Amino acid sequence: MIKYPLLAVSALLCLASCDSGANSNAGEDSLRFDPQAFRIDSLTMPDGDVVRFKSYEGIYYVKNIEDSTYQQLNIYVPLDTKHRADKDIPVLMRNNVGGYMASPAGTPSAVDATGRALAEGYVVCIPGARGNGATVVKDGKTIYTGTAPNGLLDLKAATRYLHYNDDLIPGNSERIFTDGTSAGGAMSALQGTTGNAHEYETYLKAMGAADASDAVYASICYCPITDLNHADMEYEWLYRCTDNGVRHLDESQIAVSNELAALAPAYINSLGLKDEDGKAITADNYMDYLKKFIMESAHVALENGCEIPDTIGIIRYAKPRPTFAQRLGSGPVNGGAPISGRPEQKMEYTDFVIDVDWQKYLTYVASVTPLKTPPAFDAYGVLGDAATPENKVFGDTEGNPSNFTEYSLRKRTGDPNATLSDALQQRIYMMNPMNFIREDNKGIAAHWYIRHGAKDRDTSFLVPVNLATLLRNKGYDVDFALPWNRPHSGDYNLDDLFAWIEQAMK
Ligand code: DHB
Repeated sequence: MIKYPLLAVSALLCLASCDSGANSNAGEDSLRFDPQAFRIDSLTMPDGDVVRFKSYEGIYYVKNIEDSTYQQLNIYVPLDTKHRADKDIPVLMRNNVGGYMASPAGTPSAVDATGRALAEGYVVCIPGARGNGATVVKDGKTIYTGTAPNGLLDLKAATRYLHYNDDLIPGNSERIFTDGTSAGGAMSALQGTTGNAHEYETYLKAMGAADASDAVYASICYCPITDLNHADMEYEWLYRCTDNGVRHLDESQIAVSNELAALAPAYINSLGLKDEDGKAITADNYMDYLKKFIMESAHVALENGCEIPDTIGIIRYAKPRPTFAQRLGSGPVNGGAPISGRPEQKMEYTDFVIDVDWQKYLTYVASVTPLKTPPAFDAYGVLGDAATPENKVFGDTEGNPSNFTEYSLRKRTGDPNATLSDALQQRIYMMNPMNFIREDNKGIAAHWYIRHGAKDRDTSFLVPVNLATLLRNKGYDVDFALPWNRPHSGDYNLDDLFAWIEQAMK
């Protein structure tokens, strides 16, 4: 929060003389923000409006920098903050993590949430983070620096930097909204669930992160590739019904798929989820619960004039749209009729989605983008498969990948008693947001915006549904949807997102 109005004046005066990115008052405490080290930049938005902002770039957010390429953040402050009081200025913290790869600190874009946030008068922070592919050379040896949970630790250290410098950075660090897509959505979910969790403390201290909170106010998660150590079983449990249609597996793959799917019910039941009426959600009724989200998605799409083919398992009942007189309460309301075969009457009818034929719908999803083969995530060494991004992120500092489920470890080694080391199990624990919701971590974000496209097959629908449901069950404010016709993607429908942010700020 800016507590010193004079700073704004001095910043303006410095426009003509400041070097870009110069850290003129680093002084003794390298983690203190220098409000004068900016340059003025601008973005032309899709509507032609030009947004001008101060760019503070290349700021190291830890004292003990291991990887100078990635452990940096950039901060952008709009010149026009829309007359908001400083406490009412949200901070959008958007990570650029994808594929669990390392990501350098980013710059704002007119076509994603960062540019939009600046146009709305928000402060934007785009931190870099270590991840797959990041290496440094120490004593002539290549060290892989991006292994889990280092990327998350970096994002948490960046959050600490924002809190630590709340008096110097415009915007309210108590109103940080994290945002990410896919592996970045997982990171956003982790930032939202692990605020101030003790599990990370010694690591953050060792990194020289600021002595401040790493909790955030709200978490925006697009298609989070998360709950990694249960994602394989959830994938097979959902998609095995498509095996004879679009996914052509050989016999040993079908065996693996069946074994993994058989592990899912115990996990689903262990979550103790409840629906909105308080009824227990178990493996037995889970597909009915899931159905509601797909039906809602299709319903909204139909309401918006989207055509949904009759062949993809979205079962509809068409009810005559009430006449004006009927809406006023007079005149009879006719019964409905199935819409199939009566396309010429479509315009007169409101569609109601009444069911989902899962076999047809999931086959449709799998026909849009071929499914992953089993195991979808912990594939390393199972049936000769190569390491996935997830195997790499759980790998070691020498660049060797690692299994992160007992199932795949045993398959790869052929040892039916093989176990994951305690140290690895701890790393896996720290990378799963579900653990911190289940353990009732105190620093969980109050507000959640979770989206996973209705035709996104990168992970099972169970992953975002479980995350959203568990958060709801624990009393958090969760806006969740599986938007119709969306593949694996993020930062879409920004009008909806920013309306939600404004609501969450109240
Ligand atoms: C991403 C996508 C995946 O399917 C996956 O397994 C991991 C990461 C991504 O887009 O970030």
